[in-house]
Amino acid sequence: MDAAYRKGELRFSAHSARLCSRPFALSPHMSTTCVIGLLWGDEGKGKIVDLFAEKADYVVRYGGGHNAGHTLIHEGETLVLHLIPSAILHSEVTNVIGGGVVIDPFHLRDELGELAGKGIQVELGRNLLLAETCHLILPLHRSLDQLSEQQRGQDRIGTTGRGIGPAYADRASRIGLRLGDLLRPERLRPALRKIYDNKAPLFTESDIDLPSADQLADELIAIGEQLAPGIVDAGHRLRQAQSAGRKLLLEGAQGVLLDVDHGTYPFVTSSNSSTGGIASGTGLPPASLDSVAGIVKAYSTRVGQGPFPSELSGEQAEALRKAGNEYGSTTGRPRRCGWFDAVALRYAVQVSGTTEIVLTNLDVLAGLGPLKIATSYEIPGRGPIEGFPAFDLDLVEPRYEEMAGIPGDISEIRSYEKLPDEARQYVEAIEGMAGAPVSLISVGPGRDQVIHRGSAR
Ligand code: IMP
Repeated sequence: MDAAYRKGELRFSAHSARLCSRPFALSPHMSTTCVIGLLWGDEGKGKIVDLFAEKADYVVRYGGGHNAGHTLIHEGETLVLHLIPSAILHSEVTNVIGGGVVIDPFHLRDELGELAGKGIQVELGRNLLLAETCHLILPLHRSLDQLSEQQRGQDRIGTTGRGIGPAYADRASRIGLRLGDLLRPERLRPALRKIYDNKAPLFTESDIDLPSADQLADELIAIGEQLAPGIVDAGHRLRQAQSAGRKLLLEGAQGVLLDVDHGTYPFVTSSNSSTGGIASGTGLPPASLDSVAGIVKAYSTRVGQGPFPSELSGEQAEALRKAGNEYGSTTGRPRRCGWFDAVALRYAVQVSGTTEIVLTNLDVLAGLGPLKIATSYEIPGRGPIEGFPAFDLDLVEPRYEEMAGIPGDISEIRSYEKLPDEARQYVEAIEGMAGAPVSLISVGPGRDQVIHRGSAR
């Protein structure tokens, strides 16, 4: 590989070679690890959290809501979790929904019901804890999300329509309701009426039929009674667990490029989905994170609107979508597909403090012919640009490095040395450009379809 570093272009450098050869960070003595999506979500975090959870005592969601969709394979059946942490299949792990998560109580009730229907043991207060400070998504937030998308028309964000943005907006406006309010009817009823009064003008010209504040309060109080054994001071429990040396695995939702501050604003979600959201979303101190496993697919995808520099169109996009079954697990929308983007990756690795990379869906590229990796951006007429820009991303054109296609089927391979040369060259090019080592490669949806590269896990 060319060791030169050209201005504005990512190349394998002596610095990244040093990074890649240092000991892997996810070792058993590490007590607090985060698993995070590096680009626009849908990187396959569910499977990786499920895998890492074997060595965890606690698995904790810290942000987002049921806009997320984490797919697991359980006894040959596909299981999609939206709100409940991905370690729920490990009955000895304590799953925690941290205070940074927004909860639609009706959805949570239904997701719990679905798990019970599949025979999956969820015991509130034992293997599932819910932070009392989680803000609530109410039916009016869902309606407002949909109304606001309609009003934006061509400029719509392409949200999941689940009320995430309006619920976080009410949190910031300090009128939101929290999970603990469900246990306090005397507080809940007047607070709910206040929110209704506050929002009424927004619905005057719509034909949306909302439940009355009193009817909704009754339903929420009933759900609160069901959830009560699980509603706790989760921050306190997590800090105690950490002091006692328990292993904590923090489960990111969405991805770094959907972070409200560091993503492709305004085409982002409404929370700090990168590692910045961990301290506020859990109550753990900021310095307590030992390692960050950044998950990235071997190609890029995005759902919803917003710039996507390495996006493909036509037959090439369709071939990738078909090979990777790239349809949203929350909304079923076809995902936009494109070449691997090393510029975006390097930015996300730096912003999130990723210490090692998990590369997923490498098997999907096998047999698809020659590959490309975006190594730098330029704006026509303005020349090359440094890094990943906060503005004008829709104007950039990537420069690509061509890579040999990966032959055959690699989904049954379990050792790095046995991968075809072309696959290893692809992986090593990515890690050189990312500035962090690739420690684990996923070559299929099954739990065992992984290739370890030196990581202790
Ligand atoms: P919201 O989070 O529903 O407000 O949607 C904002 C943006 O984030 C939209 O582009 C969604 O498609 C995207 N988004 C939200 N959650 C996910 C996810 O779990 N995976 C991928 N994209 C997501």
